[in-house]
Amino acid sequence: MELKGKTAIVTGASSGIGAEFSKALAEKGVTVYGLARRKSKLDEVKKVVGDNFIPVELDVTKRQDVDAWVDHSLENQSVDILVNNAGFGKFGNIDELPVEDWEGMLNTNLSGIFYLTRRVVPLMKSNPEVCHIVNIASVAGLIGNPQIAGYNATKFGVRGMSEAMMKELRPFGIKVSCFYPGSISTEFFSHSGGSTHPNMMSPADVAHTLIHVLETPDNFLIDEVVMRPLNPKPPEK
Ligand SMILES: NC(=O)c1ccc[n+]([C@@H]2O[C@H](COP(=O)([O-])OP(=O)(O)OC[C@H]3O[C@@H](n4cnc5c(N)ncnc54)[C@H](OP(=O)(O)O)[C@@H]3O)[C@@H](O)[C@H]2O)c1
Repeated sequence: MELKGKTAIVTGASSGIGAEFSKALAEKGVTVYGLARRKSKLDEVKKVVGDNFIPVELDVTKRQDVDAWVDHSLENQSVDILVNNAGFGKFGNIDELPVEDWEGMLNTNLSGIFYLTRRVVPLMKSNPEVCHIVNIASVAGLIGNPQIAGYNATKFGVRGMSEAMMKELRPFGIKVSCFYPGSISTEFFSHSGGSTHPNMMSPADVAHTLIHVLETPDNFLIDEVVMRPLNPKPPEK
């Protein structure tokens, strides 16, 4: 896809990789609708990214708000790219994980993708150009581990949903890719309770990969990308 002049929606654009995706896309000449709940953080992103970034205060778990935003803002608007990135993890033993954390992860990491995607796909189906949906899962969508059963459940769900969407939507000229990143240096770990390490990936490197995947020729689909730090521990001296 030639990115210049295209329109993208990026969820979770107020921090972390979503903010970095927005910056990288805007630098390529893409108009980016950046969705998140924290308006003040979105405004900070806009100061860095500039006029190509349109901040949208929206909670992806609120289906009626998602519907209202699509109806109000995307009428007669062509959408070329959707990056379903908003998400969070809460780690803990299965017998100690609060029900509200389980429900919050399901609502955000899975239902949030469904609520927005179901409204954007019809716009993409009527777009004569090839479009692209990128879902951000995690290596936790491939590998189960202790204390992350809830997060695993949502990210394994994103994997299945992405594969099904890929097969369903390619006849309509809509690419679907799913990313499975390992640890990235973002706010994620300050909410999750998981531990960090000194060699996490940089959000800018993940954004570089997004641009590469989006810029591939129309008849070429990278549908899954696993990315990890080369060494999760500092190299031995
Ligand atoms: N960091 C990692 O190591 C890592 C690894 C693999 C996968 N991931 C995945 O990468 C994605 C982005 O995470 P990150 O690492 O960049 O962490 P982050 O800095 O905490 O970003 C999470 C983003 O999601 C948004 N968000 C959360 N709930 C939302 C909701 N209900 N509605 C709209 N936006 C919402 C947050 O914005 P507001 O709070 O302003 O709403 C924020 O912009 C997540 O799906 C995460 O699971 C992260």
